Amino acid sequence: DHTKNGVKGLKDSGITSIPKFFIQPPEILSTLNPPSQTNTSNNIPVIDLENINSQTHRPKVVEQIKEAAREWGFFQVINHEIPISVIDETIQAFISFHEQPGEVKAKYYGRENGSYSSNIDVYHAKAATWHDYLKFWMAPEEQAVKVEDIPEIVRKEAVAWDRFAKKLAEDVMELLCEGIGLETSRFKELSCSGNRLLVGNYYPYCPQPNLTLGLAPHTDAGTITVLISNQVSGLQIKHGEDWVDVKPLPGAVIFNIADLLQIISNGEYNSVQHRVRANSCEEARISITEFFNLSKWKEYGSFGPLPELVSAEKPALYRQFMLDDFLSNIYSKEIDCKSLVNKLK
Ligand code: SIN
Ligand code: FE2
Repeated sequence: DHTKNGVKGLKDSGITSIPKFFIQPPEILSTLNPPSQTNTSNNIPVIDLENINSQTHRPKVVEQIKEAAREWGFFQVINHEIPISVIDETIQAFISFHEQPGEVKAKYYGRENGSYSSNIDVYHAKAATWHDYLKFWMAPEEQAVKVEDIPEIVRKEAVAWDRFAKKLAEDVMELLCEGIGLETSRFKELSCSGNRLLVGNYYPYCPQPNLTLGLAPHTDAGTITVLISNQVSGLQIKHGEDWVDVKPLPGAVIFNIADLLQIISNGEYNSVQHRVRANSCEEARISITEFFNLSKWKEYGSFGPLPELVSAEKPALYRQFMLDDFLSNIYSKEIDCKSLVNKLK
């Protein structure tokens, strides 16, 4: 039974055509081929964090990151303090998890915390996508996976990656605050990095990559997302009318702005649509995403654009809403929490 061996199990069975429920609807398929809609000459902005604390350099970086977060919603950070070996080991550990025999992975299949799954059993979606994942909540404590429940093959690496990613994300959030005139620690104090979901996505070779996707188009719901991947391509972001391939520099860490940060920044920063092409390489694509979100939301009551960013010249673009309603539905497909990101009038 392939279900518990995910899409990888299907690939390993040697099939040459994909099961029907993976075939995406025509409106998606029509965007997969015409070169006019896939722009390969562009790439997301590169932010160099070298000398970030020098008084002459920092304002330039703040300006660059602000532009990137506004125009692209995505950027890649280089010369961060994370050793390349940590990135490589994290990627390798998640590859090793996914490349274990199905019987070993089955133990983690569909569990509440630390669950391994794939879209193969999503009977409700319009179409399934060609990837498997392993995910855990790393924070806050009351929601986090118990360390001993993380599969041993990724345990040490997941814990270390969470620590490094959180530190780098908080540094990036400081730059983002400064870019729009907020107190440097405003996002951190709001607990923007207090809730973290770590996901290791595995995209096996797909025999018919032009009929399906690795991951359907979406925006991320939280505050910010941190991503590392191996060098197999696949991630694309919407930039104007184009789907632009993201080509990570080796050792780079990719960031993207998510919905809640767009809202609290009153639209200064943008949460941009992205998707993953089905993998046409024999080598699997792996990405490790950490989704950052608010942890102290119970304290807020109603929530919306930060008051510092609302003025007569810049009225609130989004309505106030209850974070409870927003966050309790983020990971469910049942309620379209994206409607909250629709601008007022
Ligand atoms: C995601 O958007 O959640 C994953 C993107 C990727 O695999 O590159
Ligand atoms: Fe995403």
